[in-house]
Amino acid sequence: MKVTGQKAKTGKDGADRVMRKKMLVANWKMYKTRVEAAEFMQHFLQETVVQHAVEIVICAPFTALADLAALLEKNGLQLGAQNMYWLDEGAFTGEISPLMLKEVGVKYVLIGHSERRRYFDEEEALIRKKVAAALAHGLNPILCVGENEEQRNAGQTEKVIQEQLWGALAGLDVKNELGEKIVLAYEPVWAIGTGTPARGEDAGAVAGLIRSLLREKGRGLAEKVRILYGGSVQAENITDFTAQNEIDGALVGGSSLKAPSFAALLKAVLEERGA
Ligand code: PGA
Repeated sequence: MKVTGQKAKTGKDGADRVMRKKMLVANWKMYKTRVEAAEFMQHFLQETVVQHAVEIVICAPFTALADLAALLEKNGLQLGAQNMYWLDEGAFTGEISPLMLKEVGVKYVLIGHSERRRYFDEEEALIRKKVAAALAHGLNPILCVGENEEQRNAGQTEKVIQEQLWGALAGLDVKNELGEKIVLAYEPVWAIGTGTPARGEDAGAVAGLIRSLLREKGRGLAEKVRILYGGSVQAENITDFTAQNEIDGALVGGSSLKAPSFAALLKAVLEERGA
């Protein structure tokens, strides 16, 4: 399966429109031993007919990556990591390098997840280096941005998103081709793991803001970038998000941990698309 699936389609007005392939990304966080990861895959593949209409990425713990690589590839799913350091190698105890991820077949890597920002003090300067390193090594970064509750209540959502976006992309030679490589995930911190998702329209509006900010860097880039929503996504609400023009899929934590609930998310997206 191709890593990204954007196709140009000519609209009635003759203008080229980019068809962005929908994505469903599982973020397993610090869950699943190797045995549990293998069990999940066995059940998920029994429950699901993987369809190429939706690109599925499994961001597994480091210890399970190598085990999953061949199985995912055989079944048309993509392998993702949840974090990486930005240097190729060195005396950085406990870190994982882009080369190590590539070697085991990783295609995507989450960068700047709010849990990394919050619990591991990751800041813009480090996130920027990680995004650049991922791209330099041919890994596709899934860059996470999102406001916390306090910022939301203070009406600072736009400002925070803008700062995080430019903070992570500053200094990058942002060419249009990058649109097929970088994925953005809008994850309001207050919605993550709380059971209280954003409203579909509100998330759609923030995704629209992200796309319009990216247009400042290049129209081709902005139209190609896939923007995901994340935060308490479940089978019952996923299409509230994927129905939004500007949202191209979901980044899912809790509901990705059990094969039936993750399969139900995929089914909901496929049904919505009539696939
Ligand atoms: P959640 O997590 O789906 O459990 O809210 C999303 C995430 O942290 O990526």
